[in-house]
Amino acid sequence: MENNRLTIAQVAKAVDQYDGKEVTLKGWVFNKRSSGKIKFLVLRDGSAHIQGVLVKGECEDETFEGFDRLTQESSIKVTGKIRKEPKARLGCEITVMRIEAVQIAQEYPITPKEHGVEFLMENRHLWIRSNRQWAALRVRSEIMWAIQAFFRERGFIRFDPPILSATSCEGTSTLFTTPYFDEKAYLTQSGQLYGEAGAFAFGNIYTFGPTFRAEKSKTRKHLTEFWMVEPEMAFAELPDVMDLGEAFVTYIIKHCLANCQKELKILERDTSELEKIVAGPFPRISYDEALVILKKRGLEIPWGEDFGAPHETALGEEFGKPVFIHHFPAQIKAFYFKHADDPNGGGIDKDGKYALGADLIAPFGYGEIIGGGQREDKVEILERRLAEHGLKKADYNWYLDLRRFGSTPHAGFGLGVERTVAWVTGVEHVRETIPFPRMINTIKP
Ligand code: 4AD
Ligand code: MG
Repeated sequence: MENNRLTIAQVAKAVDQYDGKEVTLKGWVFNKRSSGKIKFLVLRDGSAHIQGVLVKGECEDETFEGFDRLTQESSIKVTGKIRKEPKARLGCEITVMRIEAVQIAQEYPITPKEHGVEFLMENRHLWIRSNRQWAALRVRSEIMWAIQAFFRERGFIRFDPPILSATSCEGTSTLFTTPYFDEKAYLTQSGQLYGEAGAFAFGNIYTFGPTFRAEKSKTRKHLTEFWMVEPEMAFAELPDVMDLGEAFVTYIIKHCLANCQKELKILERDTSELEKIVAGPFPRISYDEALVILKKRGLEIPWGEDFGAPHETALGEEFGKPVFIHHFPAQIKAFYFKHADDPNGGGIDKDGKYALGADLIAPFGYGEIIGGGQREDKVEILERRLAEHGLKKADYNWYLDLRRFGSTPHAGFGLGVERTVAWVTGVEHVRETIPFPRMINTIKP
């Protein structure tokens, strides 16, 4: 990078090259302390933190005397000599010669003492400068890259669906409505329906963008605006969903283990747990088999009911790694799922009581991170399903066309970015995995 845009991370990376050299670093006062003839500064510039040492006599007098005026988060330019220091976390320090203050910050509201999460959320625009938030959002950025690299390596085309939409994908109860000239539009719940059109045009595609759900749930897993990546494949069936999902999640974790060690350390993430996950296949069990496990663990639910958080946590605990659940009761799934008979051969209903869905449940209470399955590919059946779900055929005519002109078995899934980041980083709540979370009572800042 150009010399006047040098970052702390670049210096640390090429420490042998910079050792003994004079540089100017631009950033913010993260921390500081004085003890008589020597003063210490921790400078952060967004790429890393470096300790600066000011020694009376070696440092310009004006800087040494003016040091006490520097407040937390003041923006400054620091000129000094880099010194290799194996004992420092960064591997080097800077012996400060001169500090130029750009702005002396007012009293900063976030101090090193403990703050309540409500206060921190109100100050989210500042909170993101703190170590743990910084680390989690950097892991997010890496995951965003890994997602695109994975699909690019496999020849999937990125296919961007609209956000403003006239139809619902995941049921009408969680739609955000917005006026659209003389009509009404919804914010998309999922790019899937458009992704299916893309799959029949390009073979394999993925959509990737923000999606919206008017979720009234106040849990550690729910946002009203979240990012979802949704691959869709033509000529694919339910097992293809699980094969791709497993390869995808494994790829993301390997990428983070290779590129985010520093951040995971700040977050005190036990990475051995992640190492274990990339080592082997993910178990695959049917919904009916899951009910047996849940019963054994004292969490019996009647057939046909969806899992809640305690059930997902128990299933995660049973295996200690991500587990696919497939063949759900059709009654708890969206209209577009292809139905099937009992996976164990019971043959309950002539066109099936099961939906060919597959969800991936992450261990340790992070819940469902992938939801997907095989789509209904016959026009007559899909028309009936729309009616059963109270959806107007006229709104879905273009979607039905996909079954009229060269329909094939096809399948795909959606992976929620924030839940994935939460699980990889070990952060408890999804609100800390997106820069500005949107939740039922959170629209500011
Ligand atoms: O299971 P969902 O609702 O599936 C779909 O939307 C399908 N159309 C996807 C597809 O087959 N193309 O959502 C998929 C994933 C969930 O597993 C979860 O990770 C995430 O999206 N998700 C949420 N994340 C945060 N907050 C919410 N309110 C979420 N709802 C779903
Ligand atoms: Mg789901």
